[in-house]
Amino acid sequence: MSAPITLHQLTEQLEALESEAAAAIEAAASTAALEDLRVGLLGKKGRLSGVLGAMGKLPGDERPLVGQRANVLKEQVQSLLAGRLGALETAAMAAKIARETIDVTAPASFVPAGHRHPLISTTEEIVDIFAGLGYRVSEGPEIETDYYNFTALNIPPHHPARDMQDTFYLEDGRLLRTHTSPVQIRYLETNPPPVRIVAPGRVYRRDAVDATHSPMFHQVEVLAIDEGLDFSHLRGTVMAFLKAFFGDLPVRFRASYFPFTEPSAEVDVQWRGRWLEVMGCGMVDPAVLEGMGLDPERWSGFAAGLGVERFCMVRHGIDDIRRLFTSDLRFLEQF
Ligand code: DAH
Repeated sequence: MSAPITLHQLTEQLEALESEAAAAIEAAASTAALEDLRVGLLGKKGRLSGVLGAMGKLPGDERPLVGQRANVLKEQVQSLLAGRLGALETAAMAAKIARETIDVTAPASFVPAGHRHPLISTTEEIVDIFAGLGYRVSEGPEIETDYYNFTALNIPPHHPARDMQDTFYLEDGRLLRTHTSPVQIRYLETNPPPVRIVAPGRVYRRDAVDATHSPMFHQVEVLAIDEGLDFSHLRGTVMAFLKAFFGDLPVRFRASYFPFTEPSAEVDVQWRGRWLEVMGCGMVDPAVLEGMGLDPERWSGFAAGLGVERFCMVRHGIDDIRRLFTSDLRFLEQF
């Protein structure tokens, strides 16, 4: 058995505990370190318990001296722990607030809002006007067959109209469509009359680029088939459309020729003192109707095709078609 413990020794242990505890608590850098200290000092197997355990070996009259002192120490340590815990929590909160400070003077992150290309918004405007007249939108492929682009539109292989619309051919004989008129045929193949559609889209021609020509441009096709439609319906529709788009400008119809309409006309509007051609149109040729299995004695209709670039350029006063395709933001940001 070890040597009997003395009051003096236990008193010294308590004093040592007191000064060490104060220093260690003050130095604790985290709440976790503080909890470790609490367990080591005041826990069941902690140092204070050790002293109290040894106390039982003292003579009876000496025990209260150690017990009182130990109780005082326990309270001191508890209050030091609580004080340090409060200080650590306050510091943590202060650091968190400092980290989360918002610098209201910092430049905002800014994503500029995009907007539609002027050709897209012009197309939408045109389509919207026809939608208001009861037309639905239909679309067709940009890569077409000879049949839809020419033959079914009453343009047989050696027809001179083909020279005016030279295009780009694929090796398999298909071609880039030269106009949106083939959508008339595609739609009529699957939809019985009455029909009222507009067909917007890209078209292609083998043209050299200049201020008014581009090998790729946009059209909107119009087609109406019903019983009893005649040229006055065509004219009324075109006039209503042009008035909605341009306002009250002088309009004239000029006799013209297209293989798929009879009679045919070109339409001009007077703009800044001169006549500008804006669209082709006409009554659907009976040969086209017959080709679609429709009896021309019963069904009749009209069609029109307009160039979106022309409408866009007139609307915005754009002098050169190439500006619409060069993606120059200094130009595009104006719309
Ligand atoms: N497809 C013709 C072209 O691109 C334009 C056109 C003219 C379309 C008369 C029509 C029409 O539907 O009736 O030159």
